[in-house]
Amino acid sequence: MNEKAILKVNGQEFELPIIVGTENETAIDISKLRAMSGYITLDNGYLNTGACTSAITFLDGENGILRYRGIPIEQLAEKSTFTEVAYLLIYGKLPNESELKEWNSAITKHTLIHEDLKRLYVGFPKDGHPMAIMSCMIASLSTYYQDSYDPTNPEHREISIIRLLAKFPTIAAFAFKKSIGQPSIHPINALNYCQNFLNMMFAVPTEEYEIDPIAEEALDLLLILHADHEQNCSASTVRLVGSSLANIYAAISSGICALWGPRHGGANQEVLEMLNEIHDSGLTVKQVIEKSKQKFSNFRLSGFGHRVYKNYDPRAKIIKKATYKVLNKLGVKDHLLDIAIELEEAALTDDFFVERKLYPNVDFYSGIIYRALGIPVNMFTVMFGMGRLPGWIAQWKEMIESPDMKIGRPRQVYVGPKEISYDDAKKGG
Ligand code: ACO
Repeated sequence: MNEKAILKVNGQEFELPIIVGTENETAIDISKLRAMSGYITLDNGYLNTGACTSAITFLDGENGILRYRGIPIEQLAEKSTFTEVAYLLIYGKLPNESELKEWNSAITKHTLIHEDLKRLYVGFPKDGHPMAIMSCMIASLSTYYQDSYDPTNPEHREISIIRLLAKFPTIAAFAFKKSIGQPSIHPINALNYCQNFLNMMFAVPTEEYEIDPIAEEALDLLLILHADHEQNCSASTVRLVGSSLANIYAAISSGICALWGPRHGGANQEVLEMLNEIHDSGLTVKQVIEKSKQKFSNFRLSGFGHRVYKNYDPRAKIIKKATYKVLNKLGVKDHLLDIAIELEEAALTDDFFVERKLYPNVDFYSGIIYRALGIPVNMFTVMFGMGRLPGWIAQWKEMIESPDMKIGRPRQVYVGPKEISYDDAKKGG
């Protein structure tokens, strides 16, 4: 397509190229707009702004489609594993058998963290939120690898990627153990990624711990479903911080902070808290829905709505199905699942939600599975982060390796006071 957009402003016309993606998404390329015209664009919350081209993840929010490197999420959920998906996202293709073996082995061999780093945990209060601990620990990892974290060096990039994927679960499980006053359990190389995490979370030194294959499978599935979601708030944060050529540990640590918020990954914790509150307070589902519709109540139905999906989130569809299966297999009966189903049904038939195309998102049901696995509510967003890590890494790597990478630096339209002298300002003039 050789089409151009014409911008008419102040009697002048400017031609802007149209960019077409592989799935026929179209964009007006405004990269030369200011140089040509003196104008910038204004787009609060980036509702219409593409910040990059990307070959990692395709998302069609109107039709509820999600694909990693072209492969539908439903197929990856059924056939792949989390570490294979991580390879796919980061390197752009599925690994062959020996590549996968080497990849898994490299990750397995880097799971330990420096003993000195463990001493940082002591400084956190017992009830400190694990997302704060994760962000701090991941940024602190950089202090141990100052000789190998140059983002412009391909070898440094490779080893940093392995270290991050390997150490994230160890750091997360240690944070949990610290919060409950139990000794940390070291990783075991004979275990795979999910087994290792479950073992570090739930084993104690005094007795045998048997890893439940149902829990392992459920965890692997949830991690796959969370692995990437193109230019969301945390991935964009990772790109923005990484664009300054800060090291990858700093960039990922910032992504963790962005994910923490209740409008993003923090929603999975909020959903469980909301369901619990409905149960404990005796509020009806109808009352909760009414409250979420009141603009100034500052309350939203957590786990509902999405900036891009205006249809059922395909991940939520898979998770909802898995929730029944996992709870059934584990023999768990959870009253919160009944409330969630009632809430979903009521919201999906309520005009407010229908008109605004608000559907359950990935966070709505995931917490019920995490809860059945014994993962505490304040660790839910950490679990999301563990899943999202390969996506953040893939987004960062794609940006760093792009020949036209630029530091991310938005502009603004200034609406503050006009020039005023210090003396006049002091007088209140
Ligand atoms: N409950 C009640 N009303 C909602 C909800 C909700 N969960 N979500 C959106 N709305 C309403 C808004 O009040 C607004 O109404 P209005 O048109 O009358 O002003 C309208 O729907 C559009 O909402 P926006 O905030 O403009 O939509 P945006 O795309 O900016 O927000 C977001 C998307 C942040 C996810 C929003 O739907 C939300 O806050 N959901 C609850 C939190 C949540 O579940 N976050 C997880 C998202 S998925 C993820 O990050 C992994």
